[in-house]
Parts: sequence; structure tokens; C-alpha cells
Amino acid sequence: MSLKENLEKLKSEGLKDIADSKEQHVLNDIRVKLLGKKGPITDTLRGMKDLPAEERPKIGSFANKIKEELAQAIADKQEEINKAIINEKLKKETIDVTLPSRKSNKIGTQHILNQIIDDIEELFIGLGYQVISGPEVEEDKYNFEKMNIPKNHPARDMQDTFYINDELLMRTHTSPQQARTMEKHDFSKGALKMISPGKVYRRDTDDATHSHQFNQIEGLVVDKNVTMADLKGTLEVLVRHVFGEERKIRFRPSYFPFTEPSVEVDITCFACGGSGCRICKFTGWIEVLGAGLVHPNVLKNSGIDPDIYSGFAFGVGPDRFAMLKYGVEDIRNFYSNDVRFIEQFKGEEA
Ligand code: DAH
Repeated sequence: MSLKENLEKLKSEGLKDIADSKEQHVLNDIRVKLLGKKGPITDTLRGMKDLPAEERPKIGSFANKIKEELAQAIADKQEEINKAIINEKLKKETIDVTLPSRKSNKIGTQHILNQIIDDIEELFIGLGYQVISGPEVEEDKYNFEKMNIPKNHPARDMQDTFYINDELLMRTHTSPQQARTMEKHDFSKGALKMISPGKVYRRDTDDATHSHQFNQIEGLVVDKNVTMADLKGTLEVLVRHVFGEERKIRFRPSYFPFTEPSVEVDITCFACGGSGCRICKFTGWIEVLGAGLVHPNVLKNSGIDPDIYSGFAFGVGPDRFAMLKYGVEDIRNFYSNDVRFIEQFKGEEA
């Protein structure tokens, strides 16, 4: 067999092997075997030395052409194999979007107290109030003195206090926010209308109805000619929003040092509608919050002339609202972080 025939044979065998190969590693072996330094083509070309000089370049270029053809066939095959690999992978890794998800991923929920606070905030924002937050470590001056409760006044006994030192304490109510906002308010720009939600602290022994930490929302409106009627109308909107549109409201005389007159606000029982049941202790009424007209001394203490301005204030207990609305008998449930309790209130107020 001539050198040329030999090369032709190598070529046709090679092309057949390439065409037959289906796997990457087989193709690799073919490449090394055919085109490598120890391969049959290189080997065959060694015989060139026995050819006449004028034949050598012809055979040389013929051999190179064959090498190129084989290399091209290998490259084409390589691409074919790559595509097959990708297609196989795509097939294997297809995601079945109809597969049901794992049920173990629990989605949390906003704490019921924060749901109530957010809901009340939104209501008052809609009525044109600002929402203001204040410090939990408060000065005696704001917590008591400016709220018309001087040192040694018996009214201090109403709020057992965590003192930090003589002048600093954990605020016992959100009422100090009244003084803080009144001092800053520019009345040339209109009425002061604000609510201030936040945590408050008392040195109570914790029991079913007392927690050393709980929430309040303070409300305050100061303007010219603010009356008890404004207070009643506003609170009616609030309690109807929270406890239902059919609720009626009544004011009972009470005492707070920072309001005069002061009232306790009752609503008709949402459980029995007013006919009397266990929840309203058979009175038909449930006490929900304290309120009143801002005491002249409180206005004066914040630099406001009580002969020109008047105001109303109220103090809401979101914890109490939640206990009443959902029949929670122990306030400590809100703070002990038992998921079984907390997860019952998924999206209640949302
Ligand atoms: N600060 C009072 C308390 O914690 C609640 C309160 C009552 C606030 C009457 C008020 C109010 O603004 O007018 O017991």
C-alpha cells in the first residue's frame, strides 16, 4: 500500500471512529490516537524519507489536509457532545413548579399588640394627628412634675415607679409626652394634635392583670375652644373603630392629676350588647380608658396660657384593649413569647 493510500485509509477509519464516538472520553482518546505525536499519521509520515524529493511536499501537504479534516471532524463532534450534555442536564434539572411546597416553613405574624397599635395610629393619622415617640428613660420633671404631680404628692402612689436616680426613672405612663410636645409646638401653625404610643414601666408585682412593662397610647389635642364634646366625639370614633360600630360610650367622673375634669370612659359591652354578661360583670358596660380636659397647671407648666388655650387628653392601654377584644385573661401571655399564643392572631387588624 502506498503512503498516500495508507493515509487515505487512516482518514476514513478515523472519520468512522469519530462519527461512532458518543462520549467525551472516547473522543479524547481518538484525538490523542489520531493526531498525537505517536499517532499513526506521524508514524506514516516517517516513511517520507524513502520517497523521491519531489513527492515529499505533495505527501506532506496531503497529510496536513487529512489532519485538518480529522481535527475539524473532532471539533464538530465535540460540539455535538457538548450540546447533548447540556440538553441532558436541562432535562434532569427541570423544576416542577406544581410540586407542593414544604409545610415546615412557618411564616411569622406581627404581634397582636403591635397590630392594635398600628391600627390605632392609622386611624388617628387619618384624623390629622401626628404620631410621636418619646424616651422610655424619662426625667422626673416630665413624668410627674410637669404633669401636675409634684414631689411627695400622694398621687405618685398611683404609679409605683422604677427610679434610676432622684431625677431619672422608667416612665410610668406616656403622659410626659404631653409636656414634651406642648413645649415644642408652634401654635401659630395651628392646633396641636398628637398621639404617642410606647412602652411604660411600673414596679407592680406581675399577675394576671399587671405586668411591669406594658403599652400605652397617649392622645392630646390643644387649641382654642377645645371642649368635652370634642373629646367625647373623638373617643367615640376610636372605640367604635376598635370594638364595633354599634358601641355606645359613657363618661364617668374620675380623678387624674393632669386633667380637670377627669373621666373614665365606658363602652357598651361588645359581648352582650349591654344586657349584662360575665365579661361586663353584669353591668352592661366595660371600662376602656381614662381621659379628661388638660389641667390648666399642665398647660402653664409647658408655657401655654390656659386663658387662651384648652385641650383634651386620653390614655389608651392597647394591652387592655387586646384582652377585652380577644378574651385574653392573663396579660403575661403578651410578653412570654409562647408561639402557640402569639400565632392565634395572624393578621387580625390588618
Ligand atoms: N396617664 C394615665 C395612667 O397611666 C392614663 C391617662 C388618664 C392619660 C387620663 C391621660 C388622661 O392622658 O387624660 O394612668
